[in-house]
Amino acid sequence: MNRFDKDAITWDDLPRRVNLAKAVVKNIAPYLTKNDKVLEFGCGTGLVGINLAPFCKKLKGIDTSKKMVEKFNEKAKKLNLNAYAEVKDIFEEKEKFDYIVSSMTLHHIKDIQALPNKLKKLTNKIFLADLFKEDGSFHTKGNEDVFHFGFSEEELKEYFKDWKIEITKIHTIKKHKDFGVFLLKGTLC
Ligand SMILES: C[S@@+](CC[C@H](N)C(=O)[O-])C[C@H]1O[C@@H](n2cnc3c(N)ncnc32)[C@H](O)[C@@H]1O
Repeated sequence: MNRFDKDAITWDDLPRRVNLAKAVVKNIAPYLTKNDKVLEFGCGTGLVGINLAPFCKKLKGIDTSKKMVEKFNEKAKKLNLNAYAEVKDIFEEKEKFDYIVSSMTLHHIKDIQALPNKLKKLTNKIFLADLFKEDGSFHTKGNEDVFHFGFSEEELKEYFKDWKIEITKIHTIKKHKDFGVFLLKGTLC
């Protein structure tokens, strides 16, 4: 059982998590149409994906945590949504999508440099939200499975150099200090 399996049951109880997801959804939903097939990787319990599902044709979530996926599917079933999730690593995904979205997952991906090329094989439109560069104090319970202390605009531009990207600050998470959250909108040139 990994750290996310342990946290899955109470994941949705934190208002700051719900508020961040709302900001992410608000900034992505206007771009989606009822014809779009959307993938969310690192979908967790669906705080983002479940709320994007009404704006698209089909929402597939993937996550490496079995417990997160179970919670996602429970919620989607209860709401009778066009959304389902499965246990999968983003690097194992093969299906193609109109959009790929993700929130707060990039900093848990060790081989971040390989991600932009992987996404290129699956879509030509991405929305990725995560922390701007932080000092390592964001995860107050410890940095297990945290491979990046946020990201600077410069490194994102370098990783996504084959993509046309826009990076916008969309939210601030208030903990012992303020942590800025960006949304990277990318299209293939
Ligand atoms: C901080 S949580 C965010 C969950 C959700 N997006 C949210 O905002 O509530 C990060 C999630 O990414 C998942 N994850 C980490 N690495 C992954 C990978 N390589 N592929 C798919 N999911 C991954 C974890 O299991 C975890 O559920």
